[in-house]
Order: sequence, then C-alpha cells, then structure tokens
Amino acid sequence: MAHLCRKGKGKNLKILDGVLLAEQIKDEIKGEISRDSLIVGLAVVLVGDDQASRIYVNHKKKDCEECGIASYEYTLPESATQEEVITLIKQLNSDEKINGILIQQPFPKHIDVTAVNESVSPLKDVDAFRADTVGKIAVGDYGFLPCTPAGVMELIHSTGVSVSGKECVVVGRSNIVGKPMALMLLNESATVTICHSRTRDLGEVTRRADILVSAVGKARLITADMVKEGAIVIDVGMNRDNSNGGKLCGDVDYAGVAPKASFITPVPGGVGPMTRALLMKNTLTAKRLQS
Ligand code: GUN
Repeated sequence: MAHLCRKGKGKNLKILDGVLLAEQIKDEIKGEISRDSLIVGLAVVLVGDDQASRIYVNHKKKDCEECGIASYEYTLPESATQEEVITLIKQLNSDEKINGILIQQPFPKHIDVTAVNESVSPLKDVDAFRADTVGKIAVGDYGFLPCTPAGVMELIHSTGVSVSGKECVVVGRSNIVGKPMALMLLNESATVTICHSRTRDLGEVTRRADILVSAVGKARLITADMVKEGAIVIDVGMNRDNSNGGKLCGDVDYAGVAPKASFITPVPGGVGPMTRALLMKNTLTAKRLQS
C-alpha cells in the first residue's frame, strides 16, 4: 500500500502516514454504517479536568461525527468518587443507545483504574481494557483489540512486509500497549522480545529488531545506534519535549533514526490517529455484537 507512505529523506525511507490510513479506515466505517442504516452510539466519559484528556476527548467526538456515530459525553468532576463513576458506567451498560463505553484516562488518583475498567460490560469494552478482553488475545480471540496495538498492526500491514518470522522488539510492558502488542505480533508468527525498565542492555536487544515498537513515554529513548539498518520503527510515545519548547515528540530520536529505517512513524501523525480510528472500528464491532 505504497500510497499510504510518503518518501522520506533516507535512502529508501518511507514515512508511515497514520493520518491518511486513519482516514481510510474511518471512510470504510462510515460507508458500512450508512449502507446498513445502523444507529451506533459511543459514550465518552471524562472524569476531572485534565487538559490533555479534554483535547483527546474532543478529537474522539469529531471522529465519531466523521463516521456517522453518535457520541454522548458524560463529564464528572475531579471530586467524583469511584462509586459514582461505576454507577454511571452501570447505567451506560444497560442503555440501549450506547454501544461502546470509553472512559478517558488518566483518572484522578483516588480512583482505582482496574475497578472502573472491569465495570464496563464485555460487550461494550471498546477500549479493550478489561482483563478478560486482553487475556483473550493470548488465545487468538480478537473480539475487541486494544486500539493502539491494533492501530500499530494496521500500520505494519500497510508496509506490505510480512510479520511472520521477523524479529520484533516491543519496548514497554504496559497492559494496554506493550503486552497486547507482543501477543498480536506473536499471533502473526513473529519472534517477539519485550523490553522494559529492568532490561540490562536495551540497545543490544533493539538492534536485533526487524520491527521495533517503542511504547514507553520517554523522549529520545531510542537513538540511531539502537536501530538496525532497514528496520521498521513504530513510535507509540507521546511526550512533551521540554528542551524544544514543549513540542510533542515520541520515544524515538526521529532525526537520527529515520535515515536508518525502512519505514518510520512520525509523532504527531503516526500512531495517534490510528488509535482513534481503531476506537471507531471497535464501536462498530460492538454494535454488531449487540445486534
Ligand atoms: N488515555 C490515553 N490513551 C487512551 C486510550 O486509548 N483510551 C483511553 N480511554 N484513555 C486513554
């Protein structure tokens, strides 16, 4: 799918355009919803007044509009108790106009993330944050996939390079990105290594990668000397670069790494838009599951 890549400055470098691929996925969703005259609804829950969360929620509502999905926003104050949040989720679980429930994270510190995630109905778990939803990936059950790793897989597939037999290194072991990411690569027959903060020599491992995915949240963690010539490099990081006026940047030192990579995702404009497109896809899947 060469049309989804832009040519970069490296010898054969191609920049993976997440904005373009996300638009294509959203167009397909819109087409399907319109063709089958579906009425689809997503609840977007925001607890507290985190500024970044407000921006993400607004983007997600705009995506819904583009796809023909109704979005319903529920805002709770920073002081809301865990019980109040869970009571709202339970109401949304039994509300027929709501097919999917998204609770924007991070939550205020006094709220237990796991308890809230587990209160979402398994049929409406469009973020795929429930433990059983994540666990099912291990046995190849792809009912709902966590949006970020699913978006990364779409980006990798768009390169036309087969994952089978490749050395894949995932940096980061979070429940919502690193672990499901590794399982999804393994399910496509990759040789997968997960690195994390206790990995002794990170560069020694990342240099083996044909496909390198970094999902840590640390600016310039991945430098050119840590990347194999010709690798596919996927940057899940979303960091503010304090040495550059607080500009948004990923985990990868883009300027240094890009000339060595065969394909690379920019930040912004790589994984971020794909995460949101996959949320739309999961919401449509939820509608189908409930019908
Ligand atoms: N906060 C950062 N990324 C995400 C996401 O994918 N889903 C939710 N619910 N919150 C987030």
